Amino acid sequence: LSPTELKMLDAHEFATEFYHHLLVNTEDGEQALQYLMERGFTRELIDTHKIGWALPKWDALATLLERKGFMLEDMATCGLIIHKEIDDSYFDRFRGRIMFPIRDENGKVIAFSGRILNSDADEAKYLNSPESPIFHKSQVLYNLDKARASIRKTRKAVLMEGFIDVLAANRAGVHNAVATMGTSLTPQHVQKLKRLVEQITICYDGDNAGFEAAKRAAEMLQAERLKIEVAVLPDKLDPDDYIHRYGAESFTNQILEKPFAYIAFMMMHARRGKNFQFENDTFQYIHEVLGHLVGKTSPIERDLYINQLAKETNITKEAIEAEYRKFEGEQV
Ligand code: CTP
Ligand code: MN
Ligand code: MN
Ligand code: MN
Ligand code: MN
Repeated sequence: LSPTELKMLDAHEFATEFYHHLLVNTEDGEQALQYLMERGFTRELIDTHKIGWALPKWDALATLLERKGFMLEDMATCGLIIHKEIDDSYFDRFRGRIMFPIRDENGKVIAFSGRILNSDADEAKYLNSPESPIFHKSQVLYNLDKARASIRKTRKAVLMEGFIDVLAANRAGVHNAVATMGTSLTPQHVQKLKRLVEQITICYDGDNAGFEAAKRAAEMLQAERLKIEVAVLPDKLDPDDYIHRYGAESFTNQILEKPFAYIAFMMMHARRGKNFQFENDTFQYIHEVLGHLVGKTSPIERDLYINQLAKETNITKEAIEAEYRKFEGEQV
């Protein structure tokens, strides 16, 4: 790290303490603290992750950073403040938002995500730090610094869509969860996970976007020979919603402990919207599933899924097996 980058890390550490202090010790933070409590955050969770509050003011942080002797130009480069060309001044990027520090895998704060209190407002729900010399969004897995020990112990990582979901999972006693920062999974994320663990449970939001994103993530991870299972949430709920509604125990026992195996998830995905009264849907479905089976499954798994295909579509097992062999021949 260059001296400038070290300064940027210092500033993030300083800002983390500043925002956290405002949330937990001052009247200005009361409403935000109330909001977090209503969402089920505990004081312990808030302290461990150093969640904070950015005042709805234009220069609260900028003024402090200047007083502390930080170079404002560098502070703008790492996204804590923004440069205003017109009068060559600086103002705070995050204003009136709940501040979630984003740490690298060594636990150093490298960015923030700020959430507005009122989701109905015109502004974006979450505002993230921009790409910077210390923050590369496509590489960061939220909570990896804290989850590492648990991932080693459980030999499994749980991958979620939102960092709020990771925090809810923490509260529910699940400590091996990580999340991407508002991007879909990248090859860099995959490599990072691969170095750490062999098995991943994908637990994305239960809406359509989450379902599709889970399929993409599952394929990427599987292609890197990681063992994948997909925990699917009902009724458009995300992990945080689910834990709220049904509790921690149900989340672990009914969702995380009852995942779909990779192929079973792919079959479910392929089945969606298809009607096996129509031969085109039937052929498409069988081909899609056979595509997933070739080269990725053991003879026993193959037998299991081909049986299931036959049952679902009313095509004989023998015919599907013959089709499988044809498929296999084409793929080699
Ligand atoms: N996200 C973002 N900007 C937005 C919306 C979402 O960066 N305007 C990213 C955030 O990293 C968020 C993730 O996408 O954690 C998932 O989005 P979403 O499911 O909409 O948010 P939740 O995690 O459910 O947040 P909340 O429960 O606070 O609504
Ligand atoms: Mn860099
Ligand atoms: Mn979502
Ligand atoms: Mn969500
Ligand atoms: Mn949510």
